[in-house]
Amino acid sequence: MSRFKAVIFDLDGVITDTAHYHYLAWKQLAESQGVHFDHEFNESLKGIDRMGSLDLILASASRQYTPEEKLALADVKNRHYQELISTMSAADLLPGAVAALDTVRAAGLRIGLASVSKNAFTVLGRLGITDKFDYVVDAATIARGKPDPEIFLRAAHELGVAPADCLGVEDAVAGVAAIKAAGMFALGIGHPFVLTEADVVITSLKEFNLAAY
Ligand code: G6P
Ligand code: MG
Repeated sequence: MSRFKAVIFDLDGVITDTAHYHYLAWKQLAESQGVHFDHEFNESLKGIDRMGSLDLILASASRQYTPEEKLALADVKNRHYQELISTMSAADLLPGAVAALDTVRAAGLRIGLASVSKNAFTVLGRLGITDKFDYVVDAATIARGKPDPEIFLRAAHELGVAPADCLGVEDAVAGVAAIKAAGMFALGIGHPFVLTEADVVITSLKEFNLAAY
């Protein structure tokens, strides 16, 4: 049914839409530092890890920040974000997400999660889908964020599958680049004119068709 042996999913924007919560938390933080923050800026942060995102925001600030100040600001943002996601539930699963996971499982493939979010375990728990994954990468153990392939290569390694036998699923440009750099087939979720590096692009997991890739 599939030429792949594993499917490795991103979380934010693929399985659930946490982008809005990140937006609210980053906006409050940015404005507290006098930095303008809008939806377009938020889009450019998709798939970028917490400290990387903060650096991009503070690049527009009027002063320099010490590493300690940056850690404190990242912590303020994260606490706000955690408050916002504390009421998430299975109702926040994106359409087609559970069906896609179940299709992959039924086809006998391994399933991994490669999110750079340090809140991924919490979000999976709130969504009630933790046990659908054979392996979830702990973002705290990843040295280089997307577009570096490290996180996808780690997932493949832990699943015991060669990268060439993996299908990666991503909504962010940096994420698709990471999948391709890992030597995997990239399924993009979004628009083909944005995710230009993806092998196939679909609008949402509602269109997921494992046999077609
Ligand atoms: C995902 C999101 C990013 C977010 C990153 C880190 O990749 O797309 O917007 O910044 O995770 O999330 P965290 O929960 O660790 O702050
Ligand atoms: Mg994403």
